[in-house]
Amino acid sequence: MQRDLRYCLEQFRSANRLLTVGREVDPRFELPAVMKAAEGSGQAIVFEKVKGSRFRVVNNLAGSRDMLALLFETRPERVINQWIERVDNPMEPRLVSSGPAKEVVKAGSKVDLGELPMITHCHKDAGPYITAGIVVAKDPDTGIRNVSVNRMQYKGRNKLGIRMMPPQHLGLIHEKSEKKGKNLEIAVAIGNHPFEILAAATTVDRGVDEFSISSAFRKEPLQLVKCETVDVEVPATAEIVLEGEVLAGVREPEGPFGDFMQYYVPVMENHVFEVKAISHRQDAIYQTIQASSLEDTHILALSREAQVYAAVSKVAEVRAVCLAPTIMNCAISIRKRFEAEPKDVAAAAFEAYSWLKYCVVVDHDVNVFDGNDIWWAMATRSRPDTGLLLLENEPGFPRDPFQIHQSKLGIDATAPLNQWEEFERKIVPGFDKLRLDDYL
Ligand SMILES: Cc1cc2nc3c(=O)[nH]c(=O)nc-3n(C[C@H](O)[C@H](O)[C@H](O)COP(=O)(O)O)c2cc1C
Repeated sequence: MQRDLRYCLEQFRSANRLLTVGREVDPRFELPAVMKAAEGSGQAIVFEKVKGSRFRVVNNLAGSRDMLALLFETRPERVINQWIERVDNPMEPRLVSSGPAKEVVKAGSKVDLGELPMITHCHKDAGPYITAGIVVAKDPDTGIRNVSVNRMQYKGRNKLGIRMMPPQHLGLIHEKSEKKGKNLEIAVAIGNHPFEILAAATTVDRGVDEFSISSAFRKEPLQLVKCETVDVEVPATAEIVLEGEVLAGVREPEGPFGDFMQYYVPVMENHVFEVKAISHRQDAIYQTIQASSLEDTHILALSREAQVYAAVSKVAEVRAVCLAPTIMNCAISIRKRFEAEPKDVAAAAFEAYSWLKYCVVVDHDVNVFDGNDIWWAMATRSRPDTGLLLLENEPGFPRDPFQIHQSKLGIDATAPLNQWEEFERKIVPGFDKLRLDDYL
Protein backbone atom coordinates (compact mmCIF):
# COMPACT_ATOMS: atom_id res chain seq x y z
CA MET A 1 0.00 0.00 0.00
CA GLN A 2 1.32 3.42 -0.99
CA ARG A 3 2.01 5.61 2.06
CA ASP A 4 -0.24 8.63 1.61
CA LEU A 5 -1.80 11.28 3.84
CA ARG A 6 -4.33 8.80 5.27
CA TYR A 7 -1.62 6.25 6.05
CA CYS A 8 0.28 8.99 7.87
CA LEU A 9 -2.80 10.00 9.89
CA GLU A 10 -3.32 6.36 10.93
CA GLN A 11 0.33 6.17 11.96
CA PHE A 12 -0.09 9.28 14.12
CA ARG A 13 -3.40 8.00 15.53
CA SER A 14 -1.77 4.74 16.69
CA ALA A 15 1.07 6.69 18.29
CA ASN A 16 -1.35 9.01 20.15
CA ARG A 17 -0.24 11.90 18.00
CA LEU A 18 -3.53 12.94 16.43
CA LEU A 19 -5.97 15.56 17.69
CA THR A 20 -9.50 15.78 16.27
CA VAL A 21 -11.62 18.92 16.40
CA GLY A 22 -15.29 17.98 16.07
CA ARG A 23 -16.80 21.42 16.57
CA GLU A 24 -17.37 23.62 13.49
CA VAL A 25 -14.66 26.24 12.95
CA ASP A 26 -14.50 29.34 10.78
CA PRO A 27 -11.64 29.14 8.24
CA ARG A 28 -11.12 32.88 8.67
CA PHE A 29 -8.82 33.25 11.72
CA GLU A 30 -10.60 30.71 13.99
CA LEU A 31 -9.13 27.57 12.41
CA PRO A 32 -5.62 29.11 12.30
CA ALA A 33 -6.01 30.19 15.94
CA VAL A 34 -6.77 26.59 16.97
CA MET A 35 -3.83 25.39 14.86
CA LYS A 36 -1.56 27.84 16.65
CA ALA A 37 -2.83 26.80 20.07
CA ALA A 38 -2.10 23.13 19.19
CA GLU A 39 1.23 23.84 17.51
CA GLY A 40 3.48 22.85 20.37
CA SER A 41 1.58 19.63 21.09
CA GLY A 42 3.64 17.53 18.70
CA GLN A 43 0.37 16.18 17.32
CA ALA A 44 -1.29 16.39 13.92
CA ILE A 45 -4.72 17.99 13.97
CA VAL A 46 -7.83 17.19 11.92
CA PHE A 47 -10.75 19.62 11.70
CA GLU A 48 -13.90 17.62 10.99
CA LYS A 49 -16.23 20.55 10.21
CA VAL A 50 -15.13 23.72 8.49
CA LYS A 51 -17.64 26.45 7.84
CA GLY A 52 -18.47 26.88 4.14
CA SER A 53 -16.80 23.68 2.91
CA ARG A 54 -17.58 19.98 2.96
CA PHE A 55 -13.92 19.04 3.17
CA ARG A 56 -12.01 18.25 6.35
CA VAL A 57 -8.73 20.05 7.06
CA VAL A 58 -5.44 18.64 8.35
CA ASN A 59 -2.44 20.46 9.78
CA ASN A 60 0.84 19.89 11.66
CA LEU A 61 2.05 16.65 10.08
CA ALA A 62 5.70 17.58 10.55
CA GLY A 63 5.58 19.86 13.57
CA SER A 64 8.09 18.13 15.84
CA ARG A 65 11.23 16.07 15.68
CA ASP A 66 9.40 13.14 17.24
CA MET A 67 6.81 13.20 14.45
CA LEU A 68 9.56 13.26 11.84
CA ALA A 69 11.28 10.38 13.62
CA LEU A 70 8.05 8.39 13.36
CA LEU A 71 7.84 9.08 9.63
CA PHE A 72 11.48 8.18 9.00
CA GLU A 73 11.24 5.19 11.38
CA THR A 74 14.21 6.24 13.46
CA ARG A 75 15.22 8.13 16.62
CA PRO A 76 14.81 11.94 16.66
CA GLU A 77 18.55 12.66 16.55
CA ARG A 78 18.97 10.21 13.63
CA VAL A 79 16.36 11.78 11.32
CA ILE A 80 19.05 13.76 9.57
CA ASN A 81 21.20 10.68 8.98
CA GLN A 82 18.22 8.94 7.41
CA TRP A 83 17.55 12.03 5.33
CA ILE A 84 21.13 12.11 3.99
CA GLU A 85 21.17 8.37 3.29
CA ARG A 86 17.86 8.47 1.41
CA VAL A 87 18.55 11.69 -0.55
CA ASP A 88 21.81 10.09 -1.71
CA ASN A 89 19.79 7.24 -3.22
CA PRO A 90 17.08 8.83 -5.40
CA MET A 91 14.52 6.49 -6.92
CA GLU A 92 12.37 6.97 -10.04
CA PRO A 93 8.65 7.47 -9.33
CA ARG A 94 6.21 5.17 -11.21
CA LEU A 95 3.37 6.17 -13.53
CA VAL A 96 0.09 4.32 -12.86
CA SER A 97 -3.18 4.48 -14.82
CA SER A 98 -5.40 5.95 -12.10
CA GLY A 99 -5.75 6.64 -8.41
CA PRO A 100 -8.02 8.09 -5.71
CA ALA A 101 -7.02 11.63 -6.75
CA LYS A 102 -9.35 11.11 -9.76
CA GLU A 103 -12.53 10.12 -7.91
CA VAL A 104 -14.20 13.44 -8.79
CA VAL A 105 -13.13 15.53 -11.79
CA LYS A 106 -14.52 18.98 -12.55
CA ALA A 107 -13.36 21.11 -15.46
CA GLY A 108 -14.07 24.47 -17.09
CA SER A 109 -17.05 26.35 -15.69
CA LYS A 110 -17.56 23.68 -12.99
CA VAL A 111 -14.32 24.76 -11.30
CA ASP A 112 -14.95 26.65 -8.08
CA LEU A 113 -12.04 27.08 -5.69
CA GLY A 114 -14.50 28.49 -3.15
CA GLU A 115 -15.61 24.89 -2.47
CA LEU A 116 -12.27 24.28 -0.74
CA PRO A 117 -11.74 25.40 2.84
CA MET A 118 -10.29 28.82 2.05
CA ILE A 119 -8.25 29.69 5.11
CA THR A 120 -7.29 33.23 6.12
CA HIS A 121 -4.36 32.89 8.50
CA CYS A 122 -3.32 36.29 9.84
CA HIS A 123 -5.06 39.58 10.43
CA LYS A 124 -3.24 41.59 7.73
CA ASP A 125 -3.19 38.78 5.13
CA ALA A 126 -4.67 39.89 1.80
CA GLY A 127 -7.23 37.08 2.06
CA PRO A 128 -7.35 33.28 2.07
CA TYR A 129 -4.17 31.42 1.08
CA ILE A 130 -3.38 27.90 -0.06
CA THR A 131 -0.14 27.08 1.77
CA ALA A 132 0.39 23.32 1.50
CA GLY A 133 0.08 22.72 -2.24
CA ILE A 134 2.98 21.07 -4.02
CA VAL A 135 3.41 22.63 -7.44
CA VAL A 136 4.43 20.34 -10.29
CA ALA A 137 5.78 21.78 -13.55
CA LYS A 138 8.08 20.70 -16.37
CA ASP A 139 11.07 22.49 -17.81
CA PRO A 140 9.93 23.44 -21.33
CA ASP A 141 13.39 22.58 -22.80
CA THR A 142 14.24 19.34 -21.01
CA GLY A 143 10.80 18.08 -19.97
CA ILE A 144 12.26 17.34 -16.51
CA ARG A 145 9.78 17.68 -13.67
CA ASN A 146 10.13 20.23 -10.85
CA VAL A 147 8.20 20.11 -7.60
CA SER A 148 8.05 23.00 -5.11
CA VAL A 149 5.86 24.54 -2.42
CA ASN A 150 4.48 28.01 -3.21
CA ARG A 151 1.91 30.11 -1.44
CA MET A 152 -1.22 30.97 -3.44
CA GLN A 153 -3.66 33.78 -2.78
CA TYR A 154 -7.33 33.05 -3.48
CA LYS A 155 -8.58 35.56 -6.05
CA GLY A 156 -11.80 34.03 -7.39
CA ARG A 157 -13.53 30.86 -8.64
CA ASN A 158 -10.63 29.84 -10.90
CA LYS A 159 -7.89 32.33 -10.12
CA LEU A 160 -4.97 32.30 -7.69
CA GLY A 161 -2.03 34.64 -7.20
CA ILE A 162 1.21 32.64 -6.90
CA ARG A 163 4.63 33.64 -5.57
CA MET A 164 7.30 31.98 -7.76
CA MET A 165 10.41 33.98 -8.55
CA PRO A 166 13.91 33.04 -9.74
CA PRO A 167 16.34 31.79 -8.45
CA GLN A 168 13.77 29.18 -7.32
CA HIS A 169 13.54 26.59 -10.07
CA LEU A 170 9.83 27.08 -10.67
CA GLY A 171 10.46 30.79 -11.30
CA LEU A 172 13.27 29.95 -13.74
CA ILE A 173 11.07 27.44 -15.56
CA HIS A 174 8.28 29.98 -15.91
CA GLU A 175 10.77 32.57 -17.17
CA LYS A 176 11.77 30.15 -19.95
CA SER A 177 8.22 29.52 -21.14
CA GLU A 178 7.35 33.22 -20.83
CA LYS A 179 10.26 34.06 -23.15
CA LYS A 180 8.67 31.69 -25.67
CA GLY A 181 5.38 33.59 -25.20
CA LYS A 182 3.74 30.55 -23.59
CA ASN A 183 1.77 30.02 -20.39
CA LEU A 184 3.29 27.42 -18.04
CA GLU A 185 1.18 24.34 -17.36
CA ILE A 186 1.22 23.35 -13.70
CA ALA A 187 -0.67 21.11 -11.30
CA VAL A 188 -0.96 21.63 -7.55
CA ALA A 189 -1.46 18.58 -5.33
CA ILE A 190 -2.93 19.29 -1.89
CA GLY A 191 -3.16 16.65 0.83
CA ASN A 192 -0.09 14.47 0.51
CA HIS A 193 2.14 12.37 2.72
CA PRO A 194 4.67 14.72 4.41
CA PHE A 195 7.47 13.10 2.37
CA GLU A 196 6.14 14.90 -0.71
CA ILE A 197 6.17 18.30 1.00
CA LEU A 198 9.59 17.68 2.53
CA ALA A 199 11.02 16.79 -0.87
CA ALA A 200 9.27 19.68 -2.63
CA ALA A 201 10.65 22.22 -0.15
CA THR A 202 14.21 20.92 -0.57
CA THR A 203 16.60 22.79 -2.82
CA VAL A 204 18.09 20.16 -5.09
CA ASP A 205 20.28 20.62 -8.17
CA ARG A 206 18.43 21.92 -11.18
CA GLY A 207 17.18 19.06 -13.28
CA VAL A 208 16.57 16.73 -10.32
CA ASP A 209 12.94 15.62 -10.02
CA GLU A 210 11.90 16.09 -6.37
CA PHE A 211 9.53 13.10 -6.72
CA SER A 212 12.67 10.93 -7.02
CA ILE A 213 13.64 12.26 -3.59
CA SER A 214 10.24 11.64 -2.04
CA SER A 215 10.35 8.12 -3.54
CA ALA A 216 13.69 7.65 -1.80
CA PHE A 217 12.18 8.88 1.49
CA ARG A 218 9.44 6.25 1.26
CA LYS A 219 11.90 3.62 -0.06
CA GLU A 220 9.53 2.76 -2.92
CA PRO A 221 8.51 4.55 -6.14
CA LEU A 222 5.91 7.24 -5.58
CA GLN A 223 2.89 6.43 -7.77
CA LEU A 224 1.96 9.21 -10.17
CA VAL A 225 -1.05 9.78 -12.45
CA LYS A 226 -1.35 12.01 -15.49
CA CYS A 227 -3.43 15.15 -15.16
CA GLU A 228 -6.64 15.62 -17.14
CA THR A 229 -5.92 18.94 -18.86
CA VAL A 230 -2.17 19.61 -18.51
CA ASP A 231 0.93 17.58 -19.36
CA VAL A 232 2.17 16.96 -15.82
CA GLU A 233 1.88 14.13 -13.31
CA VAL A 234 0.78 14.26 -9.67
CA PRO A 235 0.74 11.76 -6.77
CA ALA A 236 -2.03 9.22 -7.49
CA THR A 237 -3.12 9.30 -3.85
CA ALA A 238 -3.28 13.10 -3.48
CA GLU A 239 -6.48 14.34 -1.89
CA ILE A 240 -7.04 17.33 -4.21
CA VAL A 241 -5.43 18.41 -7.49
CA LEU A 242 -5.68 21.80 -9.20
CA GLU A 243 -4.69 21.92 -12.87
CA GLY A 244 -4.10 24.97 -15.01
CA GLU A 245 -1.65 27.54 -16.32
CA VAL A 246 0.53 30.29 -14.90
CA LEU A 247 -0.06 33.11 -17.35
CA ALA A 248 2.78 34.55 -19.44
CA GLY A 249 3.32 38.30 -19.23
CA VAL A 250 0.78 38.82 -16.45
CA ARG A 251 1.57 40.09 -12.94
CA GLU A 252 -0.90 41.27 -10.33
CA PRO A 253 -0.62 42.48 -6.74
CA GLU A 254 -0.28 39.59 -4.27
CA GLY A 255 -0.03 39.95 -0.47
CA PRO A 256 0.49 41.08 2.19
CA PHE A 257 1.05 37.69 3.79
CA GLY A 258 2.39 36.69 7.22
CA ASP A 259 5.42 34.66 6.15
CA PHE A 260 7.94 32.22 7.65
CA MET A 261 9.81 34.77 9.79
CA GLN A 262 6.52 35.88 11.41
CA TYR A 263 6.67 39.16 9.46
CA TYR A 264 4.32 40.30 6.74
CA VAL A 265 5.77 40.27 3.24
CA PRO A 266 4.41 43.36 1.47
CA VAL A 267 2.18 43.50 -1.60
CA MET A 268 4.21 42.45 -4.65
CA GLU A 269 3.52 42.11 -8.36
CA ASN A 270 3.32 38.34 -8.67
CA HIS A 271 2.19 35.65 -11.10
CA VAL A 272 -1.36 34.52 -11.80
CA PHE A 273 -2.48 30.87 -11.90
CA GLU A 274 -5.66 30.16 -13.85
CA VAL A 275 -7.25 26.91 -12.75
CA LYS A 276 -8.80 24.82 -15.55
CA ALA A 277 -9.74 21.66 -13.65
CA ILE A 278 -10.01 20.29 -10.11
CA SER A 279 -9.96 16.63 -9.21
CA HIS A 280 -10.33 15.22 -5.73
CA ARG A 281 -11.28 12.23 -3.61
CA GLN A 282 -14.98 11.97 -2.73
CA ASP A 283 -14.27 12.84 0.91
CA ALA A 284 -11.08 14.80 0.34
CA ILE A 285 -8.95 16.09 3.20
CA TYR A 286 -7.54 19.55 2.58
CA GLN A 287 -4.08 20.23 4.00
CA THR A 288 -2.80 23.54 5.31
CA ILE A 289 0.46 24.78 6.84
CA GLN A 290 0.75 27.88 8.94
CA ALA A 291 3.73 29.93 7.77
CA SER A 292 6.35 30.30 10.55
CA SER A 293 4.83 27.46 12.58
CA LEU A 294 7.03 24.67 13.91
CA GLU A 295 5.73 22.55 11.02
CA ASP A 296 6.79 25.14 8.44
CA THR A 297 10.22 25.65 9.98
CA HIS A 298 10.87 21.91 10.40
CA ILE A 299 10.04 21.41 6.72
CA LEU A 300 12.41 24.20 5.77
CA ALA A 301 15.06 23.09 8.27
CA LEU A 302 15.76 19.48 7.35
CA SER A 303 17.55 19.93 4.02
CA ARG A 304 19.60 22.76 5.52
CA GLU A 305 20.44 20.64 8.57
CA ALA A 306 21.68 17.97 6.19
CA GLN A 307 24.02 20.53 4.58
CA VAL A 308 25.32 21.64 7.98
CA TYR A 309 25.62 18.08 9.31
CA ALA A 310 27.66 16.98 6.29
CA ALA A 311 30.03 19.95 6.66
CA VAL A 312 30.57 19.81 10.43
CA SER A 313 30.98 16.03 10.41
CA LYS A 314 34.20 16.62 8.47
CA VAL A 315 35.70 18.59 11.38
CA ALA A 316 34.14 17.00 14.49
CA GLU A 317 32.38 14.01 15.99
CA VAL A 318 28.83 15.31 15.65
CA ARG A 319 25.93 13.90 17.64
CA ALA A 320 23.01 16.04 16.43
CA VAL A 321 22.14 19.23 14.56
CA CYS A 322 18.99 21.33 14.89
CA LEU A 323 17.95 24.41 12.91
CA ALA A 324 14.47 24.75 14.36
CA PRO A 325 12.71 26.98 15.22
CA THR A 326 13.78 29.73 12.79
CA ILE A 327 16.31 28.19 10.32
CA MET A 328 18.67 31.08 11.09
CA ASN A 329 19.78 29.56 14.37
CA CYS A 330 21.55 26.26 14.83
CA ALA A 331 22.51 24.08 17.78
CA ILE A 332 25.11 21.38 17.26
CA SER A 333 26.08 18.77 19.84
CA ILE A 334 29.52 17.22 19.61
CA ARG A 335 31.77 14.89 21.54
CA LYS A 336 34.52 17.45 22.02
CA ARG A 337 38.12 16.31 21.46
CA PHE A 338 40.07 19.59 21.89
CA GLU A 339 39.27 23.03 23.27
CA ALA A 340 39.26 25.00 20.00
CA GLU A 341 36.96 22.50 18.29
CA PRO A 342 33.58 24.25 18.93
CA LYS A 343 34.76 27.37 17.08
CA ASP A 344 35.90 25.22 14.13
CA VAL A 345 32.46 23.59 14.15
CA ALA A 346 30.64 26.95 14.13
CA ALA A 347 32.89 28.25 11.32
CA ALA A 348 32.18 25.14 9.23
CA ALA A 349 28.43 25.51 9.81
CA PHE A 350 28.48 29.18 8.74
CA GLU A 351 30.43 28.28 5.62
CA ALA A 352 28.03 25.47 4.71
CA TYR A 353 24.84 27.50 5.07
CA SER A 354 24.87 31.25 4.52
CA TRP A 355 21.49 32.13 6.11
CA LEU A 356 22.81 30.91 9.47
CA LYS A 357 23.23 33.71 11.98
CA TYR A 358 23.69 32.06 15.41
CA CYS A 359 25.40 28.75 16.00
CA VAL A 360 25.61 27.29 19.51
CA VAL A 361 27.93 24.32 19.97
CA VAL A 362 27.12 22.12 22.97
CA ASP A 363 28.38 18.89 24.49
CA HIS A 364 26.98 15.44 23.70
CA ASP A 365 24.88 15.45 26.91
CA VAL A 366 22.74 18.40 25.72
CA ASN A 367 19.54 17.91 23.75
CA VAL A 368 19.72 20.22 20.74
CA PHE A 369 15.99 19.77 20.08
CA ASP A 370 15.12 21.34 23.44
CA GLY A 371 15.51 25.14 23.63
CA ASN A 372 15.58 25.00 27.45
CA ASP A 373 18.51 22.60 27.36
CA ILE A 374 20.40 24.86 24.96
CA TRP A 375 19.87 27.87 27.25
CA TRP A 376 21.04 25.74 30.18
CA ALA A 377 24.27 24.93 28.34
CA MET A 378 24.78 28.56 27.35
CA ALA A 379 24.20 29.82 30.88
CA THR A 380 26.29 27.22 32.68
CA ARG A 381 29.04 26.28 30.20
CA SER A 382 29.72 29.22 27.83
CA ARG A 383 32.27 31.97 28.42
CA PRO A 384 31.28 35.25 26.72
CA ASP A 385 34.81 36.59 27.25
CA THR A 386 36.60 33.83 25.34
CA GLY A 387 34.03 31.50 23.83
CA LEU A 388 32.61 33.58 20.98
CA LEU A 389 33.28 33.57 17.25
CA LEU A 390 32.08 36.81 15.66
CA LEU A 391 32.00 37.12 11.87
CA GLU A 392 31.18 40.54 10.45
CA ASN A 393 30.01 41.53 6.96
CA GLU A 394 29.15 38.01 5.93
CA PRO A 395 26.37 37.15 3.47
CA GLY A 396 23.16 36.20 5.27
CA PHE A 397 19.48 35.94 4.46
CA PRO A 398 19.24 37.75 1.08
CA ARG A 399 16.03 39.76 1.61
CA ASP A 400 17.55 42.00 4.27
CA PRO A 401 16.76 45.69 3.70
CA PHE A 402 17.80 46.63 7.26
CA GLN A 403 21.11 44.68 7.14
CA ILE A 404 19.99 42.73 10.20
CA HIS A 405 21.44 39.44 8.99
CA GLN A 406 24.93 40.47 7.84
CA SER A 407 26.95 39.24 10.81
CA LYS A 408 27.21 35.88 12.57
CA LEU A 409 27.92 34.67 16.07
CA GLY A 410 29.22 31.26 17.10
CA ILE A 411 28.94 30.37 20.80
CA ASP A 412 31.04 27.71 22.46
CA ALA A 413 28.75 26.35 25.20
CA THR A 414 30.85 23.28 25.96
CA ALA A 415 32.52 22.43 29.24
CA PRO A 416 36.33 22.49 29.53
CA LEU A 417 37.69 18.98 28.82
CA ASN A 418 39.98 18.93 31.84
CA GLN A 419 37.11 19.81 34.20
CA TRP A 420 34.53 17.36 32.94
CA GLU A 421 33.93 15.90 36.40
CA GLU A 422 32.90 19.30 37.79
CA PHE A 423 30.63 19.84 34.79
CA GLU A 424 29.04 16.39 34.81
CA ARG A 425 25.25 16.74 34.75
CA LYS A 426 23.19 15.20 37.48
CA ILE A 427 21.03 12.29 36.38
CA VAL A 428 17.68 11.14 37.74
CA PRO A 429 17.90 7.37 37.10
CA GLY A 430 15.15 5.98 34.87
CA PHE A 431 13.88 9.40 33.75
CA ASP A 432 14.86 8.96 30.10
CA LYS A 433 12.89 5.69 29.75
CA LEU A 434 9.85 6.63 31.84
CA ARG A 435 6.39 6.98 30.23
CA LEU A 436 4.37 9.47 32.24
CA ASP A 437 1.11 7.96 30.90
CA ASP A 438 1.90 4.76 32.87
CA TYR A 439 1.56 6.77 36.12
CA LEU A 440 -1.61 8.71 35.32
C1 LIG B 1 4.87 26.12 3.52
C2 LIG B 1 5.88 26.62 2.52
C3 LIG B 1 5.57 27.69 1.69
C4 LIG B 1 6.48 28.16 0.76
N1 LIG B 1 6.14 29.21 -0.05
C5 LIG B 1 7.01 29.63 -1.00
C6 LIG B 1 6.63 30.67 -1.92
O1 LIG B 1 5.52 31.19 -1.86
N2 LIG B 1 7.52 31.07 -2.87
C7 LIG B 1 8.77 30.49 -2.95
O2 LIG B 1 9.56 30.86 -3.82
N3 LIG B 1 9.16 29.50 -2.09
C8 LIG B 1 8.32 29.08 -1.14
N4 LIG B 1 8.69 28.07 -0.27
C9 LIG B 1 10.05 27.52 -0.37
C10 LIG B 1 10.19 26.62 -1.59
O3 LIG B 1 9.22 25.61 -1.60
C11 LIG B 1 11.56 25.97 -1.62
O4 LIG B 1 12.54 27.00 -1.70
C12 LIG B 1 11.75 25.00 -2.75
O5 LIG B 1 12.99 24.38 -2.62
C13 LIG B 1 11.68 25.66 -4.11
O6 LIG B 1 11.83 24.63 -5.06
P1 LIG B 1 12.32 24.89 -6.55
O7 LIG B 1 13.65 25.61 -6.46
O8 LIG B 1 12.42 23.54 -7.14
O9 LIG B 1 11.30 25.76 -7.24
C14 LIG B 1 7.78 27.57 0.67
C15 LIG B 1 8.08 26.49 1.50
C16 LIG B 1 7.15 26.01 2.43
C17 LIG B 1 7.52 24.85 3.31
